[in-house]
Amino acid sequence: MTLISSTSEWKALGKLAEKLRGTSMRRLFADDPARAERFSGEAAGLFVDLSKNKLTDEVLEALLALAAKAELEDRREAMFAGEAINATENRAVLHVALRDNGRRERTIDGENVASAVAKELGRMRSFCEAIHSGARKGYTGETLTTVVNIGIGGSDLGPVMVVEALRPYWISGRRTRFVSNVDGADIAGVLADLDPARTLFVVASKTFTTQETMTNARTARAWFLEQEGVSESDIARHFIALSTNEDAVGEFGISIENMFRFWDWVGGRYSLWSAIGLSIALQIGFTCFADLLAGAAEMDKHFETAPLAENLPALLALTGVWNRNFLGAHAHAVLPYDQGLHRLPAYLQQADMESNGKRVTRDGKALAVPAGPVVFGEPGTNGQHSFHQLIHQGVDPVSCDFILPARSHYPTGDHHEKLIANALAQAEALMRGKSEESVRRELEAEGYAESEIDALAPHKVFPGDRPATTILMDQLTPKTLGALIALYEHKIFCQGVIWGVNSFDQWGVELGKQLAKKILPEIAALGEEKPAAEGHDASTNALIDRVNAMRRGE
Ligand code: F6P
Repeated sequence: MTLISSTSEWKALGKLAEKLRGTSMRRLFADDPARAERFSGEAAGLFVDLSKNKLTDEVLEALLALAAKAELEDRREAMFAGEAINATENRAVLHVALRDNGRRERTIDGENVASAVAKELGRMRSFCEAIHSGARKGYTGETLTTVVNIGIGGSDLGPVMVVEALRPYWISGRRTRFVSNVDGADIAGVLADLDPARTLFVVASKTFTTQETMTNARTARAWFLEQEGVSESDIARHFIALSTNEDAVGEFGISIENMFRFWDWVGGRYSLWSAIGLSIALQIGFTCFADLLAGAAEMDKHFETAPLAENLPALLALTGVWNRNFLGAHAHAVLPYDQGLHRLPAYLQQADMESNGKRVTRDGKALAVPAGPVVFGEPGTNGQHSFHQLIHQGVDPVSCDFILPARSHYPTGDHHEKLIANALAQAEALMRGKSEESVRRELEAEGYAESEIDALAPHKVFPGDRPATTILMDQLTPKTLGALIALYEHKIFCQGVIWGVNSFDQWGVELGKQLAKKILPEIAALGEEKPAAEGHDASTNALIDRVNAMRRGE
């Protein structure tokens, strides 16, 4: 396939970026206040304002031409149709089928997708009901009130992000804890204050081979079996599995009735809508979980049917490509002005960087331009007192998404008004900046001497022209959250199509896993003698030896 960067459409965008170099966004707004409306759109309960990005009609047209060149509409159709678009793993990519209520018939590996999804959702619903009603009890006959979700990556980040975001919808008296890291501190901290008689362990792993998850799951099982009065047969009441790997689940000792399945065509980082979402459903109730799916389905419908010029995920993606490849934004900040969304940046780090952090095209050619940016973030206003300095005044531009519910679930005093004011002010400041002239005027008015103004003014100038997108919603609800996540999923898909990469594999995580397996037997148990390490580079050998010496107490 042709590299997108060698196409005339790409080159045209390069020329437009050059042409716009001397024009500020401030100028664009002054000349055309209607741009605020023209570069905004609404779908599935979300309002997206792209106008504080350096877009013009000409740029948008050129970006849409680029999308056409990359055959974005055909690729979108292929994804929804269930074609094996994840070519390196020969898999379909059908997270949309998890939330479309069986609207479309598809068959993958001889299985009817809609009925398989409906069946598993039905099992999840019944299970939630049995736990919530207390019909399903623990080994002492007590109700199971605490869920410990053991998983990592996509089997953790989605569930934890959603559970945190939807706190106002929690079923009272229920708690969900998350264990992900193989660092023993993680599980030790959770086990320390658990009541085993009331705890349900949910082992969430697509492959059921992931080192971290299996280690934590074994530790949890051993801890549970150590409890007084617990016997092996009680495992069935207290451990369930969410996985695609029936054999491995069986080997671990969890029977098929206690396993909720999903399928190869659900990518790990796109799996919170599947059985992996069971911890979410247990915490907020199945009805709210169904609303989350419905919100995502609404965004799916918009994405599948809206013309690209009005298609929010596509527009967000194209604006991202413009910022990344033509305006030099090497990093992208996700800034939810909602404390509940405090894990959204972490969730999107995986969703985006594991998807588009790639260096070759779908057919293996080296990219000539970078693909996915570095994604990071924090909830507002915390980020303002941390890294916003760099976003306002650093040399390289960083693009930002401000995510903002208009109404809070916690209408205490004027907290939310202040939160909103800060979000809108940040986006405005990034776009407008502050010129040297107005800095000098301000300093003069404050009575500074000329020489002091000369010294201080450069530090107080804000270049402006920093791209900022605002995503507004009425309130953070299961539905709007579902739509928001789907918006990002499809944005990531569109960007992958434009860059020509496979957004659905993640070979880049493998090498580290292989080497860790090799190093593991070389790490001394506490106090153990080990021969000097060899077979690595000099630095790694020396580090292994030094760690081992420390572990011997030397
Ligand atoms: O680290 C890579 C990865 O494969 C992710 O893509 C995935 O979400 C995570 O590990 C967990 O995998 P699993 O659900 O199979 O345990």
